[in-house]
Amino acid sequence: MTATKRFGILTAGGDCPGLNPAIRGICKAAFHEYGMEIIGIHEGYKGLVEGKGRILKPEDFSGIIHTGGTILGTSRERPFKDPIKVDMMIDNYKKWGLDALVVLGGNGSQKRAYWLSKKGLNVIGLPKTIDNDVFGSDMTFGFHTALDVATDAVDRLHTTAHSHRRVLIAEVMGNEAGWLALYGGIAGGADVILIPEIPYDVHLILKHLKTRLDHPEGFSVIVIAEGARSAEKAQFSKKQMRKVKETDGGSGLRLSKALLEAGGIEARVSVLGYLQRGGAPVAYDRVLATQFGTKGAELLARGDYGRMVALKGQDIVSIPLEETAEKTKLVPVDHLAIHSARLAGTCFGD
Ligand code: F6P
Repeated sequence: MTATKRFGILTAGGDCPGLNPAIRGICKAAFHEYGMEIIGIHEGYKGLVEGKGRILKPEDFSGIIHTGGTILGTSRERPFKDPIKVDMMIDNYKKWGLDALVVLGGNGSQKRAYWLSKKGLNVIGLPKTIDNDVFGSDMTFGFHTALDVATDAVDRLHTTAHSHRRVLIAEVMGNEAGWLALYGGIAGGADVILIPEIPYDVHLILKHLKTRLDHPEGFSVIVIAEGARSAEKAQFSKKQMRKVKETDGGSGLRLSKALLEAGGIEARVSVLGYLQRGGAPVAYDRVLATQFGTKGAELLARGDYGRMVALKGQDIVSIPLEETAEKTKLVPVDHLAIHSARLAGTCFGD
């Protein structure tokens, strides 16, 4: 017996490694264990608006656990900006005869999933993103793969920084949250880690770098989150920051300019960008995504709708979509990892 006989599944927002393992997990359990029919919706909410999708069969969701990206495609469609698009989504849900919709997405996508559930649709969310910033889940799939990419990059920067006694900056993604920079910085043994949650003072960074440069092996590696800002810019609105980015570039470039202007230190920048989102998922993400997927199938079977699957400690649980919607899980400034990094001599620019 299953409450859901036919459901639609979509992947929305920025892609990440682990989406295919999650699709595989939920579809295998739903199809083989519960006998559900599945519509794979193309390119996230865009496909739901436009009615573009296809019936998924076992051959579609088999042999994909090791693959990056998403077999369904994704988009940054924001359908709630246009009431007509909202009606179109509801119409297509009905036209396809869906009992439920599964949304694999980050913050923005889970917020839209919640809004759709308020419109009367049966929705279940699975949290994904390299940023690990979905509120209510200790971890999102995608994060560990991106973290390994960032760590590998910092390792590589270390050897060349050492050879030339240079200051090198690695700018990592993470949106408004500092998880990737914090963990990538610690794992790569960065000398300075800058995250959005701790606004920095360039003079304190310079002091740290100069002490290191006095040392015979005086090189430094800085890991900066794309959302990190100086204490002054931390007061800026989102709109003002967009303008700053347009005129002065990303966080890494801005920091390198500030280090030169305020202290005469030349620092070269590597922006890791989309390398962090591409490629095969690491084992951790495959396992987490599979568990999230099969948990999603159980919720569908029980008709336990309006919920997002989440990791709490060691447990795979589910929380009401309402609890996660419109919130962001930032790094707490008293996080134990920050405390530990400080004790190990890392500068956070404060
Ligand atoms: O949410 C994932 C993420 O890669 C963020 O880290 C980054 O800020 C953003 O997406 C980039 O978005 P886009 O794919 O639209 O360039």
